[in-house]
Amino acid sequence: MLNLPLFSTTKKIENHFLRGAEVVLYHGDISRFLATIPDHTVQLIITSPPYNLGKEYENRISIEAYLERQTQVIAQLYRVLKNEGSICWQVGNFVDDGEVYPLDILYYQIFKRLNLHLRNRIIWHFGHGLHASKRFSGRYETILWFTKSDEYVFNLDSVRVPSKYPGKRHFKGPNKGKPSGNPNGKNPSDVWEVLLKDWEQELWDIPNVKANHPEKTIHPCQYPVELAERCVLALTNEGDWVLDPYAGVGSSMIAAQMYNRRAMGSEKESQYVEIARERIHSLWNGTLTTRPIGKPVFVPTGKEKVSQVPEEWRTTTERRLLDRKSKYK
Ligand SMILES: C[S@@+](CC[C@H](N)C(=O)[O-])C[C@H]1O[C@@H](n2cnc3c(N)ncnc32)[C@H](O)[C@@H]1O
Repeated sequence: MLNLPLFSTTKKIENHFLRGAEVVLYHGDISRFLATIPDHTVQLIITSPPYNLGKEYENRISIEAYLERQTQVIAQLYRVLKNEGSICWQVGNFVDDGEVYPLDILYYQIFKRLNLHLRNRIIWHFGHGLHASKRFSGRYETILWFTKSDEYVFNLDSVRVPSKYPGKRHFKGPNKGKPSGNPNGKNPSDVWEVLLKDWEQELWDIPNVKANHPEKTIHPCQYPVELAERCVLALTNEGDWVLDPYAGVGSSMIAAQMYNRRAMGSEKESQYVEIARERIHSLWNGTLTTRPIGKPVFVPTGKEKVSQVPEEWRTTTERRLLDRKSKYK
């Protein structure tokens, strides 16, 4: 097993693919980058592609043209993927004129045509986001996890989570009386509760901390490092290559480097490349703060100012009761 030194100051970020490199961050188009990578190199491809929503880093085109473009990229990703490798494709919805097109449904056929095997459709759920007024507000996105073959890496033990009832015992059969669970915890399942942004929790306690939080960057669609961490741990081994073709500010690459996996990514916007480089360097010198994997999502106690019903929404009776309460405190 490879044991690469973590937080080493001698580590370097290469601009172009080099077989012996540890981190490669390519500034430019994914197709050009993929053309430099040999077949069967990468163990895990994990990404959140552009959704064709007209964000600042994309030109909105027809959904057909968008999917056709992605089909070309995915064919190249398939070529560089190792036989025992995996693809984790994180998507939400494309929305046109108020109509919702779930991107995972549209992408599914592209992967199936390449004979990839779907292992999970993971739902990751988050508590905050835009409030819709003509449909229910969206509070989840999905990750399609495909493998290239039936011989794939799946390290379940490295991603187990604490069981709710570890004290449960078999009540009959040859193991009667013995603990029925796994001492390392339970399978995390295909529904993950994750904070959409690592800095969200602080919003409850210190309004406006958002702008100062170390995890906050200028990227409009940054995903939590925690999301990529679980995939990296479960689907790769130390020393393997992890590729994010749409690297953004480097969240997947950070997750890979946290666990001694080699990281490569391409990103066309120079400002995001710069931030990704800075974040990777901060990880190496120990100053990058990320939310610990599996940390329970914050539940407000009701005492926080923001979780109380505003004074002006209260009925006269409620107000009178509250006044009386505070009088006799
Ligand atoms: C949804 S964002 C990914 C964000 C990333 N997961 C993170 O946490 O920072 C998609 C990214 O793909 C980049 N992108 C779009 N088309 C690209 C292309 N053809 N080649 C390389 N990067 C591209 C965009 O600039 C954007 O930063």
